[in-house]
Amino acid sequence: PLDGLSPAWYPAPKGGADPAWEESYKKAAELVKQMTLIEKVNITTGTGWSMDMCVGNNGAVPRLKFPQLCLQDGPLGIRFADNITAFPAGITVGATWNKDLMYQRGKAHGKEARLKGVNVLLGPAMGPLGRMPAGGRNWEGFGSDPVLQGVAAAQTIKGIQDEGVIATAKHYIGNEQEHFRQAWEWGIPNAISSNIDDRALHEIYAWPFADSVKAGVASVMCSYNQVNSSYACANSKLLNGVLKDELGFQGFVQSDWLAQRSGVASALAGLDMTMPGDGLRWAAANSLWGGKLTQAVLNGSVPIERLDDMVTRVVASWYQVGQDKWSDDGPNFSSWTNDEVGKLHEGSPSDKTMGIVNKFVNAQGDHKDVVRKVAAEGTVLVKNEGNVLPLNRKGHRDESKRQTKLRVAVFGEDVRLPHDGINKCPDQSCNDGTLASGWGSGAVDFPYIVAPLSAIRSAFDKDSVYVTDWQENKLPKQKEIVEDQDLCIVFVNSDAGEGYLKWEDVRGDRNDLSIQKGGNQLIKDVAKGCGKGKGDVVVVVHTVGSVILEEFIDIPNVKAVLIANLPGQESGNAIVDVLFGDVNPSGRLPYTIAKKEEDFGPGSKVKYLPSPSDGLAPQQNFSEGLYIDYRYFDKQDITPRYEFGYGLSYTQFKLSSLLIKTKQEKSPFPSARPTGLAPPSYPKELPDPKSALYPKNFHKIEKYIYPYLDSTAGTSFRAPEPVPHSPLSDAGGGPGGNPDLYTTFVTVSASVANTGPVDGATVVQLYISFPKDHTDPETGEAVDFPVRVLRGFEKPFVKKGGEEHVEFNVTRRDLSYWDVKRQNWIMPNTGKFSISVGFSSRNLPLEGTW
Ligand code: NOJ
Repeated sequence: PLDGLSPAWYPAPKGGADPAWEESYKKAAELVKQMTLIEKVNITTGTGWSMDMCVGNNGAVPRLKFPQLCLQDGPLGIRFADNITAFPAGITVGATWNKDLMYQRGKAHGKEARLKGVNVLLGPAMGPLGRMPAGGRNWEGFGSDPVLQGVAAAQTIKGIQDEGVIATAKHYIGNEQEHFRQAWEWGIPNAISSNIDDRALHEIYAWPFADSVKAGVASVMCSYNQVNSSYACANSKLLNGVLKDELGFQGFVQSDWLAQRSGVASALAGLDMTMPGDGLRWAAANSLWGGKLTQAVLNGSVPIERLDDMVTRVVASWYQVGQDKWSDDGPNFSSWTNDEVGKLHEGSPSDKTMGIVNKFVNAQGDHKDVVRKVAAEGTVLVKNEGNVLPLNRKGHRDESKRQTKLRVAVFGEDVRLPHDGINKCPDQSCNDGTLASGWGSGAVDFPYIVAPLSAIRSAFDKDSVYVTDWQENKLPKQKEIVEDQDLCIVFVNSDAGEGYLKWEDVRGDRNDLSIQKGGNQLIKDVAKGCGKGKGDVVVVVHTVGSVILEEFIDIPNVKAVLIANLPGQESGNAIVDVLFGDVNPSGRLPYTIAKKEEDFGPGSKVKYLPSPSDGLAPQQNFSEGLYIDYRYFDKQDITPRYEFGYGLSYTQFKLSSLLIKTKQEKSPFPSARPTGLAPPSYPKELPDPKSALYPKNFHKIEKYIYPYLDSTAGTSFRAPEPVPHSPLSDAGGGPGGNPDLYTTFVTVSASVANTGPVDGATVVQLYISFPKDHTDPETGEAVDFPVRVLRGFEKPFVKKGGEEHVEFNVTRRDLSYWDVKRQNWIMPNTGKFSISVGFSSRNLPLEGTW
């Protein structure tokens, strides 16, 4: 029920149960066994904001050669660094629906982290998941569906970790909007509470985290917000219960930056590392852990077992990705200066120690190729009347018109670079020139951006095409620039970002889903004037997410529309690839495009103002439960403009030969939870508190966070009251949950033929509908199900005239719903599932039952 309360779940499950982590835990235990209390605490706590080179740095144990870890943003590239790549944002990656590219991008990103000396990359993001289309950070994740998010997250994580870098699944959980995500930014006493019911939590918000754990992710970041009135970083149900017990997470939980709001409580609830370590405020130098955790362990408030588990989780993660083989040079860049020589402890007011901080290591390799591929494949063609696209480099596709030069004009400020440089605004927090990323910690300094205009200019053959441009959103008085054209290409955009920065009146979350900066008017003016109304118009939209296209989508000479999402540094090249047909568009919408914003339903609205009834924290009730994005449109039978999963190609595809094969007979409950390995155990004696005092003549750097104590006050030991053990979840027992959830019950296959004029890739999507008449086995009440849910996708490349075979494994998890009463996944064994295969959530030509 949506009662706004979060149940207790204690004690924190220890890491080490998963056989896939056995070696790493063994090695970790060997090391942790030798650590002193002080050394252990040092590993759990950040050294303070901007105290070392990265956005997060914990303490090292030099005696045992365990290094300081560098934690660095973010999901689309290495933040605050030189010689790196600005990859396409997550939303663009989601729009490719290409698993291999998802992996390749993750791998390239991981490689750059490795070359820069980053141990822990702060991505991928899969929360926000996209409950609110205007949510400021949706673009960091992969789209408004848990399965799409989960697949993309898992592929990204494998890519990053295959390069030896720890990936971070973030933000756990329910951080769906920027407004009120935390208290101090918004001048309120407490962060917003996302009130999520247990079923939606499992079937929607936690789903991609389960995939991440299954993919072996070594770190999870808990979010700023509260969930059901308990801070996400101290929410025992979510950290101890769901993440560590049920999903079997073996890595460590780190807090978002200052998302830790309590010391002892967060430790007991399952937090393993606090970032950046400062305490309740930036640079407060008053950590909730550090010396306070030392004290809490000595006096018995936090059992030493819990601390041992925190540290073992961190050290095991480090072994798990192979970082014990790295030479311990640390990061070779500074987040705080671009100069070669800089302060070693930037955040310290009095410490002036200098050193070489930037070594300018070039990490880019050939990653621009993967950027270009992702950006092109993440571009979604939604309209193409009369096959105006692809364009011909020589101009006219119609040979009879070849004698005359084609006149083309390119419009909009989104075609050019920003006037004041590509990295003028902090963390990209402005919308000027072409939009290639959103803003916030998930943005990077661009090494370059290929502007759409220059790429289009060089793509056309100068002998047969005149190209003119107008690089602003307001047309000039002289009408010729529009009227004397055969073809007009208009670029517009819509931007958003993280809530600590704002652009104009956009404080992170967008205020609406409109195209920004007068883009709608520009398109209408161009459409009216282009060739005196007879010219063809092609529109390209760079956007952080869903936008409303209604003001122009039906204008007859607006022939083609491309949703190009956020392409990263290769923007112009990627759009040219698609416009000219070098890449046949194969992107599909990772979110619904509605006719009007209200169509997303009341639950989709960002809370922009606290309400009088909020009490101590703004409340955001996820009352729509499972019904977000297409699930809501389908349930309410609302016709969107373009549905989730939709996108056109320059060729046509035809599906046939649906084959549904039973691999296992239906059975309602997963097998019994297997018992895992025994986690490492350590002696429980506590050291003499005096051993935790600052060593004599210790040189303290002002504001740096240390694990030591000033005095032994407050360290006398009192045994804690015993807590009742929460029962282990039947849904747990392996990475991502009970291993039986991942048993294939059905295989589905189909053939896809390319019946059109050119080669191309298409996304074959599999949706399932649960049996309509399924009732709760005990109460006999009908169970409510979405009309259909995405359960898989494949992206075959099919030669023209050719045919390819696609196959899907449908697992127990895919065929189950979360039964709140039984606290387990249940597969309905009465009635029939319907299984459909097609090209979007509303174009499903093949359908069968099971
Ligand atoms: C806050 C953001 O929410 C998080 O995503 C990021 O990783 C940290 N800041 C560190 O920059």
